[in-house]
Amino acid sequence: MPITAITGSASGIGAAVSAAMRAAGHQVIGIDRCNAEVIADLSTAQGRDMAIAQVLEQSGGVLDGLICCAGVGVTAPTCGLILAVNYFGVNQLLDGLQGALAKGQQPAALVIGSVAATYSGPEGQAMVEMMLAGEEAQVLELANTVDHPHVVYSASKYAISHRARSLAVSWGKQGMRLNVVAPGAVSTPLHQASLEDARFGQATRDFVAPLGRPGRPDEIASVVAFLQSPQASFIHGSVVYVDGGIDAMVRASRF
Ligand code: NAI
Repeated sequence: MPITAITGSASGIGAAVSAAMRAAGHQVIGIDRCNAEVIADLSTAQGRDMAIAQVLEQSGGVLDGLICCAGVGVTAPTCGLILAVNYFGVNQLLDGLQGALAKGQQPAALVIGSVAATYSGPEGQAMVEMMLAGEEAQVLELANTVDHPHVVYSASKYAISHRARSLAVSWGKQGMRLNVVAPGAVSTPLHQASLEDARFGQATRDFVAPLGRPGRPDEIASVVAFLQSPQASFIHGSVVYVDGGIDAMVRASRF
Protein backbone atom coordinates (compact mmCIF):
# COMPACT_ATOMS: atom_id res chain seq x y z
CA MET A 1 0.00 0.00 0.00
CA PRO A 2 1.44 3.43 -0.89
CA ILE A 3 2.27 5.66 2.07
CA THR A 4 1.56 9.40 2.14
CA ALA A 5 2.47 11.81 4.93
CA ILE A 6 0.03 14.71 5.34
CA THR A 7 0.57 17.74 7.57
CA GLY A 8 -2.41 19.55 9.07
CA SER A 9 -4.37 16.30 8.85
CA ALA A 10 -6.57 17.01 11.87
CA SER A 11 -8.71 19.79 10.40
CA GLY A 12 -10.14 21.49 7.33
CA ILE A 13 -8.38 20.90 4.03
CA GLY A 14 -5.81 18.50 5.55
CA ALA A 15 -8.56 16.31 7.02
CA ALA A 16 -10.40 16.21 3.69
CA VAL A 17 -7.15 15.42 1.85
CA SER A 18 -6.42 12.61 4.34
CA ALA A 19 -9.87 11.11 3.70
CA ALA A 20 -9.40 11.38 -0.08
CA MET A 21 -5.97 9.75 0.01
CA ARG A 22 -7.26 6.92 2.23
CA ALA A 23 -10.12 6.43 -0.24
CA ALA A 24 -7.50 6.25 -3.00
CA GLY A 25 -5.86 3.34 -1.15
CA HIS A 26 -3.00 5.13 0.63
CA GLN A 27 -1.82 4.60 4.16
CA VAL A 28 -1.82 8.09 5.67
CA ILE A 29 0.65 9.30 8.26
CA GLY A 30 -1.04 12.44 9.55
CA ILE A 31 1.05 15.13 11.22
CA ASP A 32 -0.61 17.71 13.45
CA ARG A 33 -0.60 19.25 16.90
CA CYS A 34 -3.19 16.67 18.05
CA ASN A 35 -5.38 13.85 16.63
CA ALA A 36 -2.73 12.57 14.23
CA GLU A 37 -0.32 9.66 13.82
CA VAL A 38 2.56 12.09 14.42
CA ILE A 39 2.04 14.82 17.00
CA ALA A 40 4.41 17.71 16.34
CA ASP A 41 4.60 21.48 16.39
CA LEU A 42 5.74 22.57 12.93
CA SER A 43 6.37 26.15 14.06
CA THR A 44 9.77 25.25 15.51
CA ALA A 45 12.86 23.64 14.00
CA GLN A 46 12.90 21.01 16.78
CA GLY A 47 9.23 20.18 16.25
CA ARG A 48 9.82 19.75 12.50
CA ASP A 49 12.88 17.55 13.13
CA MET A 50 10.76 15.41 15.45
CA ALA A 51 8.02 15.15 12.82
CA ILE A 52 10.52 14.10 10.15
CA ALA A 53 12.09 11.47 12.44
CA GLN A 54 8.69 10.01 13.36
CA VAL A 55 7.50 9.92 9.74
CA LEU A 56 10.70 8.11 8.74
CA GLU A 57 10.19 5.64 11.57
CA GLN A 58 6.51 4.99 10.77
CA SER A 59 7.11 4.71 7.01
CA GLY A 60 10.27 2.59 7.24
CA GLY A 61 12.13 5.39 5.45
CA VAL A 62 10.15 5.14 2.20
CA LEU A 63 7.36 7.57 1.24
CA ASP A 64 5.23 7.64 -1.91
CA GLY A 65 3.58 10.96 -1.12
CA LEU A 66 3.97 14.09 1.00
CA ILE A 67 1.21 16.71 1.22
CA CYS A 68 1.82 19.87 3.24
CA CYS A 69 -1.50 21.36 4.34
CA ALA A 70 -0.71 22.69 7.84
CA GLY A 71 -0.95 26.44 7.99
CA VAL A 72 -2.21 29.36 10.01
CA GLY A 73 -4.15 32.37 8.77
CA VAL A 74 -4.31 36.10 9.41
CA THR A 75 -5.84 35.64 12.86
CA ALA A 76 -2.74 33.80 14.12
CA PRO A 77 -1.55 35.11 17.50
CA THR A 78 1.60 36.62 15.96
CA CYS A 79 2.77 37.43 12.44
CA GLY A 80 6.00 35.52 13.09
CA LEU A 81 3.96 32.34 13.60
CA ILE A 82 2.47 32.74 10.11
CA LEU A 83 5.94 32.50 8.55
CA ALA A 84 7.13 29.82 10.98
CA VAL A 85 4.33 27.42 10.01
CA ASN A 86 3.42 28.42 6.45
CA TYR A 87 6.95 28.77 5.06
CA PHE A 88 9.50 27.12 7.35
CA GLY A 89 7.13 24.35 8.47
CA VAL A 90 6.72 23.30 4.85
CA ASN A 91 10.25 23.90 3.60
CA GLN A 92 11.95 21.87 6.33
CA LEU A 93 9.62 18.92 5.71
CA LEU A 94 10.23 19.03 1.95
CA ASP A 95 13.98 18.95 2.60
CA GLY A 96 13.85 16.39 5.39
CA LEU A 97 11.58 13.90 3.62
CA GLN A 98 12.98 14.26 0.11
CA GLY A 99 15.29 11.24 0.59
CA ALA A 100 12.37 9.00 1.65
CA LEU A 101 10.31 10.19 -1.32
CA ALA A 102 13.17 9.43 -3.71
CA LYS A 103 12.81 5.75 -2.69
CA GLY A 104 9.00 5.69 -3.23
CA GLN A 105 6.87 4.44 -6.12
CA GLN A 106 5.95 7.28 -8.55
CA PRO A 107 6.56 9.74 -5.70
CA ALA A 108 4.72 13.03 -5.59
CA ALA A 109 4.60 15.92 -3.16
CA LEU A 110 2.20 18.81 -2.93
CA VAL A 111 2.10 22.10 -1.07
CA ILE A 112 -1.12 23.92 -0.22
CA GLY A 113 -0.35 27.52 -1.16
CA SER A 114 -3.06 30.16 -1.59
CA VAL A 115 -4.46 32.50 -4.18
CA ALA A 116 -3.28 35.13 -1.67
CA ALA A 117 0.28 34.46 -2.91
CA THR A 118 -0.62 36.46 -6.01
CA TYR A 119 -1.27 39.59 -3.89
CA SER A 120 2.23 39.56 -2.40
CA GLY A 121 3.44 43.07 -3.16
CA PRO A 122 6.49 45.21 -2.43
CA GLU A 123 5.62 45.42 1.31
CA GLY A 124 6.36 41.72 1.68
CA GLN A 125 9.43 41.59 -0.58
CA ALA A 126 12.07 41.83 2.17
CA MET A 127 10.36 39.02 4.09
CA VAL A 128 10.17 36.86 0.96
CA GLU A 129 13.90 37.29 0.32
CA MET A 130 14.75 36.46 3.94
CA MET A 131 12.54 33.34 3.90
CA LEU A 132 14.12 32.10 0.70
CA ALA A 133 17.57 32.76 2.22
CA GLY A 134 16.62 30.63 5.24
CA GLU A 135 17.00 33.49 7.73
CA GLU A 136 14.28 32.22 10.05
CA ALA A 137 15.06 34.03 13.30
CA GLN A 138 15.57 37.37 11.55
CA VAL A 139 12.46 37.21 9.36
CA LEU A 140 10.23 36.12 12.25
CA GLU A 141 11.47 39.13 14.16
CA LEU A 142 10.75 41.40 11.17
CA ALA A 143 7.27 39.91 10.67
CA ASN A 144 6.40 40.68 14.27
CA THR A 145 6.90 44.39 13.54
CA VAL A 146 4.43 44.35 10.61
CA ASP A 147 0.93 45.66 11.40
CA HIS A 148 -0.86 43.89 8.56
CA PRO A 149 -1.12 40.10 8.89
CA HIS A 150 -2.43 39.90 5.30
CA VAL A 151 0.93 41.17 4.00
CA VAL A 152 2.74 38.52 6.05
CA TYR A 153 0.32 35.73 5.04
CA SER A 154 0.60 36.59 1.34
CA ALA A 155 4.40 36.75 1.63
CA SER A 156 4.47 33.31 3.31
CA LYS A 157 2.39 31.75 0.54
CA TYR A 158 4.31 33.50 -2.24
CA ALA A 159 7.66 32.37 -0.78
CA ILE A 160 6.63 28.73 -0.31
CA SER A 161 5.09 28.55 -3.81
CA HIS A 162 8.28 30.07 -5.25
CA ARG A 163 10.41 27.62 -3.25
CA ALA A 164 8.36 24.62 -4.40
CA ARG A 165 8.65 25.66 -8.05
CA SER A 166 12.39 26.25 -7.61
CA LEU A 167 12.77 22.62 -6.59
CA ALA A 168 11.04 21.34 -9.74
CA VAL A 169 14.25 20.86 -11.76
CA SER A 170 16.25 18.93 -9.16
CA TRP A 171 13.25 16.90 -7.96
CA GLY A 172 12.14 16.12 -11.52
CA LYS A 173 15.59 14.71 -12.34
CA GLN A 174 15.13 12.28 -9.45
CA GLY A 175 11.66 11.26 -10.71
CA MET A 176 9.76 13.09 -7.99
CA ARG A 177 6.86 15.39 -8.82
CA LEU A 178 6.06 18.51 -6.78
CA ASN A 179 3.05 20.77 -7.30
CA VAL A 180 1.22 23.58 -5.51
CA VAL A 181 -2.54 23.86 -5.10
CA ALA A 182 -3.66 27.44 -4.46
CA PRO A 183 -7.12 27.54 -2.89
CA GLY A 184 -9.34 30.59 -2.62
CA ALA A 185 -11.66 30.93 0.39
CA VAL A 186 -12.62 27.49 1.70
CA SER A 187 -15.03 26.83 4.58
CA THR A 188 -12.74 25.61 7.35
CA PRO A 189 -12.01 26.69 10.92
CA LEU A 190 -9.22 28.95 9.56
CA HIS A 191 -11.65 30.77 7.23
CA GLN A 192 -14.32 30.92 9.95
CA ALA A 193 -11.84 32.66 12.26
CA SER A 194 -11.32 35.37 9.60
CA LEU A 195 -15.08 35.78 9.14
CA GLU A 196 -15.51 36.27 12.89
CA ASP A 197 -12.53 38.60 13.31
CA ALA A 198 -13.40 42.19 14.22
CA ARG A 199 -10.67 43.56 11.91
CA PHE A 200 -11.08 41.29 8.88
CA GLY A 201 -14.63 39.89 9.09
CA GLN A 202 -16.35 42.42 6.81
CA ALA A 203 -13.62 42.35 4.14
CA THR A 204 -13.63 38.54 4.21
CA ARG A 205 -17.42 38.46 3.72
CA ASP A 206 -17.25 41.08 0.91
CA PHE A 207 -14.58 39.23 -1.09
CA VAL A 208 -16.74 36.73 -2.96
CA ALA A 209 -15.48 34.40 -5.70
CA PRO A 210 -17.19 34.53 -9.12
CA LEU A 211 -18.85 31.20 -8.29
CA GLY A 212 -20.59 33.05 -5.47
CA ARG A 213 -19.56 30.92 -2.51
CA PRO A 214 -16.56 29.64 -0.60
CA GLY A 215 -15.22 26.22 -1.54
CA ARG A 216 -15.63 23.05 0.48
CA PRO A 217 -12.56 21.16 1.75
CA ASP A 218 -13.50 18.13 -0.37
CA GLU A 219 -13.36 20.34 -3.49
CA ILE A 220 -9.69 21.00 -2.74
CA ALA A 221 -9.02 17.40 -1.70
CA SER A 222 -10.31 15.91 -4.97
CA VAL A 223 -7.84 18.02 -6.96
CA VAL A 224 -5.00 17.16 -4.59
CA ALA A 225 -5.81 13.43 -4.86
CA PHE A 226 -5.76 13.72 -8.65
CA LEU A 227 -2.41 15.56 -8.68
CA GLN A 228 -0.92 12.89 -6.41
CA SER A 229 -2.21 10.06 -8.62
CA PRO A 230 -0.52 8.40 -11.62
CA GLN A 231 -3.18 10.09 -13.83
CA ALA A 232 -1.27 13.35 -13.21
CA SER A 233 2.13 11.82 -14.03
CA PHE A 234 3.23 14.71 -16.31
CA ILE A 235 2.05 17.57 -14.07
CA HIS A 236 5.09 18.88 -12.23
CA GLY A 237 6.10 22.29 -10.92
CA SER A 238 2.62 23.67 -11.47
CA VAL A 239 0.46 25.97 -9.39
CA VAL A 240 -3.15 24.89 -9.74
CA TYR A 241 -5.75 27.47 -8.64
CA VAL A 242 -8.83 25.96 -7.02
CA ASP A 243 -10.52 29.21 -6.10
CA GLY A 244 -13.98 29.57 -7.63
CA GLY A 245 -12.53 32.01 -10.17
CA ILE A 246 -10.88 34.52 -7.80
CA ASP A 247 -7.56 34.56 -9.64
CA ALA A 248 -9.29 35.10 -12.99
CA MET A 249 -11.37 37.91 -11.46
CA VAL A 250 -8.38 39.72 -9.93
CA ARG A 251 -5.75 39.29 -12.67
CA ALA A 252 -7.27 37.98 -15.88
CA SER A 253 -4.20 38.88 -17.94
CA ARG A 254 -1.72 36.88 -15.81
CA PHE A 255 -1.45 33.12 -16.24
P1 NAI B 1 -7.48 24.60 9.48
O1 NAI B 1 -7.21 25.55 10.59
O2 NAI B 1 -8.80 23.94 9.40
O3 NAI B 1 -6.36 23.46 9.45
C1 NAI B 1 -5.01 23.75 9.60
C2 NAI B 1 -4.33 22.59 10.30
O4 NAI B 1 -2.95 22.90 10.44
C3 NAI B 1 -4.89 22.34 11.72
O5 NAI B 1 -5.19 20.98 11.92
C4 NAI B 1 -3.78 22.82 12.61
O6 NAI B 1 -3.70 22.15 13.86
C5 NAI B 1 -2.55 22.56 11.74
N1 NAI B 1 -1.45 23.37 12.22
C6 NAI B 1 -1.43 24.71 12.38
N2 NAI B 1 -0.29 25.09 12.98
C7 NAI B 1 0.43 23.96 13.18
C8 NAI B 1 1.68 23.70 13.80
N3 NAI B 1 2.42 24.68 14.35
N4 NAI B 1 2.12 22.43 13.85
C9 NAI B 1 1.37 21.41 13.35
N5 NAI B 1 0.17 21.60 12.76
C10 NAI B 1 -0.29 22.86 12.70
O7 NAI B 1 -7.17 25.42 8.17
P2 NAI B 1 -7.37 25.09 6.61
O8 NAI B 1 -8.21 26.18 6.08
O9 NAI B 1 -7.73 23.70 6.40
O10 NAI B 1 -5.90 25.37 6.10
C11 NAI B 1 -5.11 24.40 5.44
C12 NAI B 1 -4.16 25.11 4.51
O11 NAI B 1 -4.90 25.74 3.48
C13 NAI B 1 -3.32 26.20 5.17
O12 NAI B 1 -2.01 26.14 4.68
C14 NAI B 1 -4.00 27.47 4.70
O13 NAI B 1 -3.11 28.57 4.69
C15 NAI B 1 -4.45 27.07 3.31
N6 NAI B 1 -5.51 27.87 2.76
C16 NAI B 1 -6.73 27.92 3.36
C17 NAI B 1 -7.73 28.70 2.81
C18 NAI B 1 -9.09 28.80 3.42
O14 NAI B 1 -9.87 29.69 3.03
N7 NAI B 1 -9.45 27.94 4.36
C19 NAI B 1 -7.50 29.47 1.58
C20 NAI B 1 -6.20 29.32 1.00
C21 NAI B 1 -5.24 28.54 1.59
